[in-house]
Amino acid sequence: MIDKSIFAVSVFVNLSLYQSKYIFMILYTPLKFRNLELKNRWVMSPMCMYSAENGVANDFHFVHYASRAQGGTGLLLVEATGVVPEGRITNQCTGLWNDDQTQAFKRIVDFIHQNSESKIGIQLGHAGRKASTWNGQQIPLDEGWETVAPSKIPYAEGERIPHELSVSEIKHLVWDFKEATRRSLEAGFDLIEIHAAHGYLIHQFMSPLSNVRADEYGGSFENRIRFLLEIVDAANELLDENHPLFVRISGTEYAENGWDIEESVQLAEVLKNKNVDLIDVSSGGNIHGAKITLFDGYQVPLAAQIKKETGIKTGAVGLIKTAALAEEILQKEEADLIFVAREILRNPYLAIQGSFGGKAECDFPPQYARARI
Ligand SMILES: Cc1cc2nc3c(=O)[nH]c(=O)nc-3n(C[C@H](O)[C@H](O)[C@H](O)COP(=O)(O)O)c2cc1C
Repeated sequence: MIDKSIFAVSVFVNLSLYQSKYIFMILYTPLKFRNLELKNRWVMSPMCMYSAENGVANDFHFVHYASRAQGGTGLLLVEATGVVPEGRITNQCTGLWNDDQTQAFKRIVDFIHQNSESKIGIQLGHAGRKASTWNGQQIPLDEGWETVAPSKIPYAEGERIPHELSVSEIKHLVWDFKEATRRSLEAGFDLIEIHAAHGYLIHQFMSPLSNVRADEYGGSFENRIRFLLEIVDAANELLDENHPLFVRISGTEYAENGWDIEESVQLAEVLKNKNVDLIDVSSGGNIHGAKITLFDGYQVPLAAQIKKETGIKTGAVGLIKTAALAEEILQKEEADLIFVAREILRNPYLAIQGSFGGKAECDFPPQYARARI
């Protein structure tokens, strides 16, 4: 009996909440980066699918990205894509160093442009000492490859010591990022995101715990961020007013004397002056076993601090699962875009569905028009 009345009250409360509807003031409004207008603030966060062969995207990727475009997402970001073969996290990661890879991406990008109002960008990266893995474990040399890093420090105990990059090898990698940017434009991508987070190669340079070099790429803050800045400059030489540049960073690596929010703010100020359009603020990934406290929106304070102290646009990510929380973050001016990963795997139609809860207009495939009522 008691159970029944609790059930009735909870149905009533839920129905009232639904009927009262959220008022979306920002989530479904457009935002421009350079000349590129995103129709709303939902972003499909980059997510490795470990499903490519020789770095080439296939029909799985086609369906995976096209579904989220049909779901009304403002911006799709293609998964971490290696700029060179040894830059991939696994043998099954996508890559962008040859024509086959470029053309396979072009097919997906063209379809999305022709069939939706979504924009699509790509995350370019290099895994450094965290490359050559499967399921998070380093794979043997005969199945994988020798990894590279700023210094001879492995990520986890028992892993192979990475090759310490020489200055000429670093310069070559900057060129590789530029080449991948050129190929991204050839494939028709609307924007580029540089992956400088999660303990991958660029982050390894940024952190004093993984970079103990004594040359111009190590030591001071200016030296540790040099590799990233050279990549940003190289990419911006090719990107124009129609193609913005985002950078994903780890706002902190949760370790004493490691990369932290103060250095992130300092970096964001530098990147703002280098024509970077948005900092996508994640965290962690460089220190094996670091403790992270998880809660809904747990990384939002990092995005908020960077935005507040530098004025640069930020993206918030991490356990943002509802349109209501997304709207709240935007209204509190903690971020400008909402990146969603796991929830958009569960629900490719997150953007459209969220708009129903709040009387907002969301671009809908014309073929699905009857589902509006
Ligand atoms: C399957 C999977 C793959 C991921 N791959 C990437 C990636 O390629 N690049 C990246 O920056 N983050 C990657 N991430 C992290 C997500 O982009 C996101 O930052 C993280 O999952 C937190 O957001 P969420 O709580 O909405 O899932 C991945 C996450 C998942 C679940």
